Amino acid sequence: MFEHLNAVPPDPILGLISAYNEDPNPSKIDLGIGVYRDDSGTTPILRSVREAEKILLDTQTTKTYLGPAGVAGFNSAMTDLLFGPASDVISQKRVCTIQTPGGTAGLSVAAHLIQTARPEAGVWASDPTWANHLAIFPSAGLEMHSYPYFDSEKKSLLFAEMMQALEQRGPGDIVLFHACCHNPCGVSPNPEQWEAVSSLAAERGFTPMVDIAYMGLERGVEEDSLAVRLFTDKCPEVIVASSCSKNFAMYRERVGALSIVCASERKANDVATVINSLTRKNYSMPPSHGPAVIDIILHSEELTGLWLQEVNGMRDRINNLRKTLSDKITASGISRDFSFLERQTGMFSFLGLSVEQVQRLKTEYSIYTVNSARVNVASFNEGNMDYFVEALAAVL
Ligand code: LMR
Repeated sequence: MFEHLNAVPPDPILGLISAYNEDPNPSKIDLGIGVYRDDSGTTPILRSVREAEKILLDTQTTKTYLGPAGVAGFNSAMTDLLFGPASDVISQKRVCTIQTPGGTAGLSVAAHLIQTARPEAGVWASDPTWANHLAIFPSAGLEMHSYPYFDSEKKSLLFAEMMQALEQRGPGDIVLFHACCHNPCGVSPNPEQWEAVSSLAAERGFTPMVDIAYMGLERGVEEDSLAVRLFTDKCPEVIVASSCSKNFAMYRERVGALSIVCASERKANDVATVINSLTRKNYSMPPSHGPAVIDIILHSEELTGLWLQEVNGMRDRINNLRKTLSDKITASGISRDFSFLERQTGMFSFLGLSVEQVQRLKTEYSIYTVNSARVNVASFNEGNMDYFVEALAAVL
């Protein structure tokens, strides 16, 4: 059966985890996978999550199946969070949300849903985009294309070029957007640019698909849903895959959701049945622990308040790290301009290093980044930044 299978190269992001873990150098730094770390280098469990877990432990009475859509309270709370509790799509019952095992499964279910609805549909993603996007959609049989997005010289958004490319898209095309904290480049459209992109989607008739994996880590929980809300206000159909891995720090619990906005309530009900049949033959039903915890948090005013404080704390810390790193690089005498670190948002930025320089960081300094030189800024701390800046100066 498997004699013709050959090993495939490790995933560009996940492959770094084991290499880092096996490295005995006490000064090693993992700038690879996108997880938040505090000043001691650990990824803490949020206090709001701990409190809700205690409540869940005391009140849960059964582990019986929940059904394909998962935890109903989580789905409705996520729908409110993403679209706004008073939004028209909710009152018109035009959106169906299901809980998925992480945002990745949400994207994968969306890919299969699109393939079922319109097998010839193409998906356009920003250049660059999260490496896994490039695997998820083709594996469901969809063709993948890109649109210009990041100016690697100026480290900024290629807005005019992006708009020009999207003007060529139309009905039957899916265009994928990162709602905030673009992964991997850290550059997002500003609110006026989102207005223009969403108006273009309405005018041209392409279907926007929004990947929102870092809600709260760019400008704020409410503010970061702007793209979702603008597309939903203007377009009859929108696909939204959301993740709670980062903003609830629930990484390994695999918590995400897929929301499909349809042109009518009847269509939303039809689509829900198609999604349920797709998930049934894949993972049957999603796990409940993480979403049950988030259901408790988002239905408690006190715990929601605590969670918002914690998300804001993570965002502020990342932004401070961006500024401190940029200042330290300037102070070190490195002549190349790294001030873009301060202007960009979220966990990621490209350092603009060659693959050889990335390799040297790894082999000579035990500093691990993805080959594209994407770094997770949230992995820096007072204790490792000077070492990093020294290494950066050496490889430059
Ligand atoms: C990342 O890009 O590092 C994160 O989204 C984690 C992952 O699964 O790749």
